[in-house]
Amino acid sequence: MEAPQFSEAERAQIEAFCQKYPTRQSAVMPTLWLAQEKFGELSPPVLQLVAQTLGLPYAHVEGVATFYTMYLTERKGRWLVEICTCFTCGECGGKELWDYAQQTLQLDENSVSPDKVFWLREAECLGACDTAPVLQIEGRRMVFSVTPEKFDAVIAQLRAGQLPEFESVPIRNPD
Ligand code: FES
Repeated sequence: MEAPQFSEAERAQIEAFCQKYPTRQSAVMPTLWLAQEKFGELSPPVLQLVAQTLGLPYAHVEGVATFYTMYLTERKGRWLVEICTCFTCGECGGKELWDYAQQTLQLDENSVSPDKVFWLREAECLGACDTAPVLQIEGRRMVFSVTPEKFDAVIAQLRAGQLPEFESVPIRNPD
């Protein structure tokens, strides 16, 4: 298999990341994110590419990639869907939603659907507790106030290859 490569445009983007910070180490996170968006996962060859491009030790890059849950060193399904079952969401339907997802998608012991289209994980607080329960897709698209019906609609959209529309966090009137 061919070694992963960044395009010229991506290399320019990575250099632009580096210019924003006092050290190249600081550009690791956006570069890892760019690499994950391009390659789908941060396998050892991709981590090596990131390390070489930034001129940093492999261990440093790997350490960052394995510390944060938003980075995927191994992808188990086409779409990663994280359901928050933390404090507030857990009390407001998140745990029931997790069970519903397990059943409707017939997830295996790794929470992957039989066709490997969906990979689910439980998430810690995603910072939108007043819209519980919430879920997050691919670490970049949040869905709020998720009911089983809304979950089914999201799954149908993902199955069709589309991310749900961006939603702002709904602002609640304090009154
Ligand atoms: S507990 Fe789910 S967003 Fe905070």
